Amino acid sequence: MCGICGYTGSRQAADILIDGLKKLEYRGYDSAGIAISHGTSVAIRKNCGRVSVLKSICRESPVEGACGIGHTRWATHGEASTLNSHPHTNLSGTIAVVHNGIIENHTELRSFLCDKGYRFVSQTDTEVIPHLIDYYYRESFDYLGAVRCAVSDLKGSFAIAVLCSDYPGKIMAVSYHSPLVVGIGESENYLSSDINALSGKTDKMYILDDGEIAAVTAEGVSVYDKNGNAVDKEIHQTDLQTENADSGAYGHYMLKEIYQQPHVLRQMISTHIFADKPTLFGELEYGDIKDTERIFIIGCGTAYHAACVGKYIIEKYAKLAVEADVSSEFRYRNPLIDDKTLVIAITQSGETADTLAAMKLAKEKGAKIIAVTNTPRSSAVRIADFTFLTSAGAEISVASTKAYTAQLASLYIFAVFLAEHIQKEELTLLKNALLRLPKDITATLSLEEKIKDAAKSLVNCEHLYYIGRGADSVTADEGALKMKEITYIHAESYPAGELKHGPIALIDEKSLVVAVSTDKKLHGKTVSNISEVIARGAKVLCISPFDTPDAFCTIKIPQTHGAVSPFTAVAALQLLAYHTALLRGCDVDKPRNLAKSVTVE
Ligand code: G6P
Repeated sequence: MCGICGYTGSRQAADILIDGLKKLEYRGYDSAGIAISHGTSVAIRKNCGRVSVLKSICRESPVEGACGIGHTRWATHGEASTLNSHPHTNLSGTIAVVHNGIIENHTELRSFLCDKGYRFVSQTDTEVIPHLIDYYYRESFDYLGAVRCAVSDLKGSFAIAVLCSDYPGKIMAVSYHSPLVVGIGESENYLSSDINALSGKTDKMYILDDGEIAAVTAEGVSVYDKNGNAVDKEIHQTDLQTENADSGAYGHYMLKEIYQQPHVLRQMISTHIFADKPTLFGELEYGDIKDTERIFIIGCGTAYHAACVGKYIIEKYAKLAVEADVSSEFRYRNPLIDDKTLVIAITQSGETADTLAAMKLAKEKGAKIIAVTNTPRSSAVRIADFTFLTSAGAEISVASTKAYTAQLASLYIFAVFLAEHIQKEELTLLKNALLRLPKDITATLSLEEKIKDAAKSLVNCEHLYYIGRGADSVTADEGALKMKEITYIHAESYPAGELKHGPIALIDEKSLVVAVSTDKKLHGKTVSNISEVIARGAKVLCISPFDTPDAFCTIKIPQTHGAVSPFTAVAALQLLAYHTALLRGCDVDKPRNLAKSVTVE
């Protein structure tokens, strides 16, 4: 979740680190800090809050030096405060550490170190690391050896970078179940939690494997395994994804990304379904999976919702049993997996800790793994047997929009790929609906003014209930998630038929219910549920292509082939959440407590 960067060379490190932290800020923005080798000491600047605040602090109180490490934090242990911000140091301030991940045995290590006379100033798990390195360093004055011994005491997942005042130009970096890459420059080298954050700096890098330690200086990089043996690493050279320059006339990345959806989908659908030689599902061939008896689709957050829609579509068209599961549940519930199992892991970032662990587990048990990700060269790509790249382009807003509909599109493309082998007619209708989809989403987005107006009714609500049936119930889940993520309004969703089994007890005249109803066959049933909540005083906002007279407002999205309505309905709900957040004065692109990439479990 946190972002780590490092630089060693001949230029001023502070500016380069702050630039690196800006690119990593999507990983967490509770606090930011840097440590710079400054003569024979290590200088620290850190603060609670955003990288922009750190930048002003460094302007007021500059720190010179050509080697340093930086960190942007998403708090796990200890509140978001300057004291808990990284870098953390040993007592004498000669060793500084930045860390991403969780040290699961930090309580034991803390008490071990306290017994040895170490004192702690923060509430973080991280602070044990500089003290442990200090402890081993005092025994041997061997920098690499001390880092290696300290790391071997740590349990959990971590990427760390270390500065030591006795070695002014040298950074030690370790990766263990948390990504870290070393960027290779000309007489200068970099560190980064994210390959793409190196764009504009270098396109050559070492990707550290679990347990490896890199000693990085301006002159070169040496990599060692956990036993201290030198490792001959392959240099990766790659085109890096550059982020969207800015949010442009849209004002917010989220709005820009919502409006990019027709373009993203048009490209994906034309390349993978309608090209002269369609590459239906990446490099995957039907023979690779023809023996599949069971499919699991896994993901977290929004990606999990894509998995749930995928279940409906693959079961309907490819007639295969599909289970959708939250990665953090899947990995601990002993799922029935064998070599006839296919696991599709959905992850925009390709770095979500629970999804990666679930993929590894399924692989160990013999399943074939497909990663559906937006991030080439991510950890998910390295674990998977096959990869489908969603090509949504960089998604900057923490709340996912275009990456979600691109994930949906991949699963529809996959359903088409499987179904081609068993049926034709229904499939032709689906393909034609997919072809029209970009236009239908554009038509939905043209309803923005009406949606903006509807948002005024939500702005002061404390609780919102979202309902839907069939795939609409998943769209309701995603709509409620978008709403709570960026407006902080309590929003819950239920399959509409479940309302009277409990949730209806909560409905009164202060309640607002958002009903999603796009399936003609089920519309009458949903209308009955709408009447039931209205009878108990609720106001209903309906997202539907059909008339819903009892609702105080219906956002009439275009009528599409029923199977593709999860795309159009969600676009309306994205705009609804966006405008409600704006009216409430929320930070739309960087909502509180969240991060774009969740690299801890
Ligand atoms: C975080 C993000 C969500 C995202 C989820 C899964 O919670 O804020 O937008 O859906 O992680 O991320 P992934 O990168 O695996 O799709």
